[in-house]
Amino acid sequence: MYTSSPFVISALLVFSLPLIYVLAPRILQPRTLPTIPEPDEADDLALFRRATLASVDPAGGAGLRRRPPSPPKIAFMFLTNSDISFAPIWEKFFRGHEQLFNVYVHADPAAELVLPPTRSFKGRFIPSKATQRASPTLISAARRLLAAALLDDPSNAFFALVSQHCVPIHSFRFVYDALLADPGAPAPAGSLHRRHRSFIEIVSDDPGLYTRYIARGDNVMVPEVPFERFRVGSQFFILARRHALLVVRDRRLWKKFRMPCLKKMEDSCYPEEHYFPTLLDMQDPNGCTRYTLTRVNWTESIGGHPHTYTPAEISGDLIVELRRSNSTYSYLFARKFSPDCLDPLLEIADTVIFRD
Ligand SMILES: *[C@@H]1O[C@H](CO)[C@@H](O)[C@H](O)[C@H]1NC(C)=O
Ligand SMILES: *[C@@H]1O[C@H](CO)[C@@H](O)[C@H](O)[C@H]1NC(C)=O
Repeated sequence: MYTSSPFVISALLVFSLPLIYVLAPRILQPRTLPTIPEPDEADDLALFRRATLASVDPAGGAGLRRRPPSPPKIAFMFLTNSDISFAPIWEKFFRGHEQLFNVYVHADPAAELVLPPTRSFKGRFIPSKATQRASPTLISAARRLLAAALLDDPSNAFFALVSQHCVPIHSFRFVYDALLADPGAPAPAGSLHRRHRSFIEIVSDDPGLYTRYIARGDNVMVPEVPFERFRVGSQFFILARRHALLVVRDRRLWKKFRMPCLKKMEDSCYPEEHYFPTLLDMQDPNGCTRYTLTRVNWTESIGGHPHTYTPAEISGDLIVELRRSNSTYSYLFARKFSPDCLDPLLEIADTVIFRD
């Protein structure tokens, strides 16, 4: 027994070595949520470069851009990981305004979404990549939509990001006039033209802001994003064209925001609610309204999800209530609605929603 003991100990040591190799990476692994795959990042970079180059006037040189050939359009950018159940109501919204809008859809490839056979959505899918909550993939998807819309049509003047749970709560004409007639931001030095504003929520005094700031670790956002410059706002916005371009050109802030959150911070990880407001507030604070035009109901929210309306709640009074805002403009879109709200919404489309 005595004599065998050193042998047993060394044997144990030898056999446990492989075990250490197996276990150590699990124990020492940086505890982060999934990162963005490098090939996806490279594809995006190429796309964003093309969108940036295409927006520089080939003849102008000095940055003078030719006037767009047709009236300004609104780019409706649908971000979805399921279906577009409300396509029929959007079609009703779009009907008769074919010269004034474009539709772009980024659908998570895993959703295997069936093309809505309706005319505005048909063929409007852009090359997409997987998205998931609590990761910067939702920022990438929005930037991909912006780049695709910038490249597709120089007449796109406003870029509205909506989800599959969003519905219009005004007529197209009302929405178009509200955006195009907005007096905009003052003209920059050396120019006579006032500039369109972006309708994006920008909040700097949210109580949860610091926890969200350190979701990727302590001191990792500096020097590009000091805490005093970190902002939060609704994921859904309407950007003016120059801001869409600014977003696809950005690499400085993206370098920080693309970092994955720490696993233990999953509940404070909403990169898409921070990247856009922070970037725009840094680059052009006066060019933004600081409020969103998409109504959402956060009372009694569960797990970061807002209240989802069900068919029993749909009424003309609800639409009127949802439009009411504290800003210059009434809300134009609202979320979230469960897919089975389609029929009750269609029923009040002509009498309430598109009557304004
Ligand atoms: C917001 O949602 C709550 C339930 O979470 C509901 O009671 C309330 O009526 C909703 N508000 C509006 C304006 O729809
Ligand atoms: C408008 O402001 C009041 C007072 O701050 C607030 O109670 C209300 O919820 C706001 N309404 C909307 C639609 O944001």
